[in-house]
Amino acid sequence: MKNVHLLDHPLIQHKISLLRDINTDTKEFRELVQEVSMLMSYEVTRNMPLKEVEIETPVGIARTKVISGKKLGIVPVLRAGLGMADGMLQLLPMAKVGHIGLYRDPGTLEPVEYYCKMPCDIEERDIVIMDPMIATGGSASRAIAYIKERNVNNIKLMCLIASKPGIEKINKEHPDVEIYCAAIDESLNDHGYIIPGLGDAGDRIFGTK
Ligand code: URA
Repeated sequence: MKNVHLLDHPLIQHKISLLRDINTDTKEFRELVQEVSMLMSYEVTRNMPLKEVEIETPVGIARTKVISGKKLGIVPVLRAGLGMADGMLQLLPMAKVGHIGLYRDPGTLEPVEYYCKMPCDIEERDIVIMDPMIATGGSASRAIAYIKERNVNNIKLMCLIASKPGIEKINKEHPDVEIYCAAIDESLNDHGYIIPGLGDAGDRIFGTK
């Protein structure tokens, strides 16, 4: 496995444990997804370039730094990725948000887009794709390819839990993409769920079954 950042901050790890717990209810689950996403955003944005500026303070001139370089876009993968978007937007309220919806074709088992709406200036932005669970990696890989087709060359993938096979697939198909996750689980069950994982993230965020 390469290009993987496992975010081991105690606050993130504690909240991931609560998310895994079958007894965590929908309200708490949704809040936790948002909190973990906000904490993870701190690391995902660590390499944002800075430039020096002069700011007038009440008592003098400060030479200080502000974020420069390309603007950011975030792309939650529908539907579970929606639960992560607000966490990052709390820190980066100026980020534009694209949406991509994918379903699995029952014949080919390949992910197919059913909805896509991206910022019109996407090629001028660095993009963070959000999908809480990277299971087989099929949807995430397709979402990455889709964004690359729009001439974006700096894409990061942010998830809560990634499986080892999912990471390997992304590594193989997109060796340029950095993956940020809060946990790495060994494997998948026959239904494509991450084991032990946390269950169906979309169902748990939205209270559906
Ligand atoms: N999607 C989920 O929500 N959970 C999994 O375990 C795998 C994919």
